[in-house]
Amino acid sequence: MASDASSLLAEHRHGPSPSARRAAARADFVEAVLKGLWRRPRSIPCRFLYDARGSELFEAITRLEEYYPTRVETALLKAYGADIARLAGADRVLVEFGSGSSRKTSLLIEALGNIPAYIPIEIAPECLREAMAWLGVRHEDLTIVPLIADFTKTRALPPIAQGRRRLGFFSGSTIGNLSHDEARAFLVNAAHLLGGDAMFLVGVDLKKPASILVPAYDDAEGVSAAFNLNLLARINRELDGTFDLSAFAHEAIWNETAGRMEMYLKSLADQTALVLGRRFPFAKGERIHTENSHKYSVAEFQALARISGWQPVHAWTDAEQLFSLHLLRAG
Ligand code: AVI
Repeated sequence: MASDASSLLAEHRHGPSPSARRAAARADFVEAVLKGLWRRPRSIPCRFLYDARGSELFEAITRLEEYYPTRVETALLKAYGADIARLAGADRVLVEFGSGSSRKTSLLIEALGNIPAYIPIEIAPECLREAMAWLGVRHEDLTIVPLIADFTKTRALPPIAQGRRRLGFFSGSTIGNLSHDEARAFLVNAAHLLGGDAMFLVGVDLKKPASILVPAYDDAEGVSAAFNLNLLARINRELDGTFDLSAFAHEAIWNETAGRMEMYLKSLADQTALVLGRRFPFAKGERIHTENSHKYSVAEFQALARISGWQPVHAWTDAEQLFSLHLLRAG
């Protein structure tokens, strides 16, 4: 690997200091929680589900039998990696949005062969460090140029991408956690960032019966419930919260009209919680909306791509029509 933790720190040096980053992240969390608990209906953006414990729980979700997206997307990358590489063309810098652990990316890197560089964009430095160490063992000659940033706000790529064609990668159906308007804005920004002759590989969860979707977000072991309830635990840990976790229940609902899974935390009693000294009364049955996960048919996602600066090249799906991988071309 032609990059290491010191280059990660070098990237870091150009942005805000770690302590400034932490202060900004805390201010963001405080504002989102206080505003989210004051508004009706109550809601807190899903990005706050991912503190260290939340990220661990999400990794555990990806290994559950009921949670098919990771397993099926991995199988699609294994089965069609060579086709993707052929259609994408050689010599592209690979740019991953919200790279996380980069585990699935390894399959794509292998299929693409010699790429000039891999640029993972990830907001959590510890996640990037771990991913780089893991990839370094598997892809010795890979040049990794990490970017510690919020992938929805990234407006420029590191110099290594200059003068080179790019292939974007946005996996795991994370695009489903954005509203339709946000997804469109993200795709438009990605088109600008990746440039005129770019290609983009996007993993998108497909619409399917509620009998498959609901267990994927409300599993028998209760890992999804623990993931959702960890948001209240995080508020207790970081914002002097007094939420009684046993007095809230995880709820996962398929909203057919909106075409999305919705997650809530539902109060099981009349109760009051304190957050940073403010009082938040909850009636029994009152809910906090914590996540949307939009699902798209192949045609719906292709239509979204077309109005966002991308032309569909090919879409791969599994035999059970659970998940899709879309290759798009800028233009
Ligand atoms: C990260 N994201 C794509 C997951 C999803 O399926 O929407 C998050 C998740 N929420 C509950 N389970 C998994």
